[in-house]
Amino acid sequence: MSAGVYHIPVLLNECVESLCIRHGYDYADCTLGGGGHSEKIAELLNEGQKLHCFDRDIEALVAARARLARFGEKIIYHHKPFSDLGKELAPEALGGVLYDLGISSHQIDTNRGFSFAGNEALDMRMDSGSGESAQDYLERISEKELAKILKENSDLEMSGRLARLILSGVAAAKGEDRKITAADLNSAIEEVYASRKKDWNSLKARVFQAIRMEVNSEISEIKKSIEAAVHCLKSSGRLCIITYHSKEARTVKEVLSLFEKNCLCNNNLPVCVCGGNNRKIKKVNKKPVTPCVEELKNNSRSRSASLRVYERI
Ligand SMILES: C[S@@+](CC[C@H](N)C(=O)[O-])C[C@H]1O[C@@H](n2cnc3c(N)ncnc32)[C@H](O)[C@@H]1O
Repeated sequence: MSAGVYHIPVLLNECVESLCIRHGYDYADCTLGGGGHSEKIAELLNEGQKLHCFDRDIEALVAARARLARFGEKIIYHHKPFSDLGKELAPEALGGVLYDLGISSHQIDTNRGFSFAGNEALDMRMDSGSGESAQDYLERISEKELAKILKENSDLEMSGRLARLILSGVAAAKGEDRKITAADLNSAIEEVYASRKKDWNSLKARVFQAIRMEVNSEISEIKKSIEAAVHCLKSSGRLCIITYHSKEARTVKEVLSLFEKNCLCNNNLPVCVCGGNNRKIKKVNKKPVTPCVEELKNNSRSRSASLRVYERI
């Protein structure tokens, strides 16, 4: 990534095509970031149509506002977590909603502790004005809890031993009255996976990801928000979601599978008592859309992206 580029949007054309933008409807980009997807969407909107852009990171809003200034009042900015979607927008208010989950290149590359390659204090909050930093989080949780999140969020083996070593590094830093840094986590990871040197970078990335997900309550944010998004969509409206790892993808599929069913009765009931008419969405593609060879070549950070598209019935 060249210096000065906030974030290269992933699956850009695929997302915008999948949204099937229609005249007369408003849209939402729940993960504004550097505004790459929003810019392309805004270009397709007519006078009077609005694009609601959410980000909990003030730096994203500042950068995107500058990039998107020419669209004026067409864009409405929400410095909010996207779980507030249902509070900010009315039911059936939107023709389409986009999520490009995770963090931006800017967040990875700046000094906020998101990257295992950095040497700054571990903050990891997307909204650095609220909530608990990674440092506070690691000082508070138990070894058992940490082992669980390392396993569940990033599927890490030997999570118990890893949690023990990470927390002993955290305690040592506290004893020395200094902040924990990436180096503290990295040395625990290198010790636990000493025999897997060639995998260190990917293991480190997964450990950082697992902790970041907890610091930002990422899974509960996704659950709350996409449920709200289904209700915010008008009939035929599109819901487009890019995920970057298996826990995100599983969460999206699980939440949306409930809205794909007509009958919500318990399996052990002999007959349907719910009315059998609950289906709210259908899948547009059987398989998720992934980046083409060209995109993978130009943007290595797109390599784990998968786009799922649903349509409101
Ligand atoms: C992958 S980046 C989006 C990049 C954007 N599509 C672009 O083209 O520049 C994800 C963005 O979503 C934001 N984000 C992630 N989770 C969020 C949440 N729960 N609420 C609001 N913003 C969130 C992050 O702060 C980050 O800026």
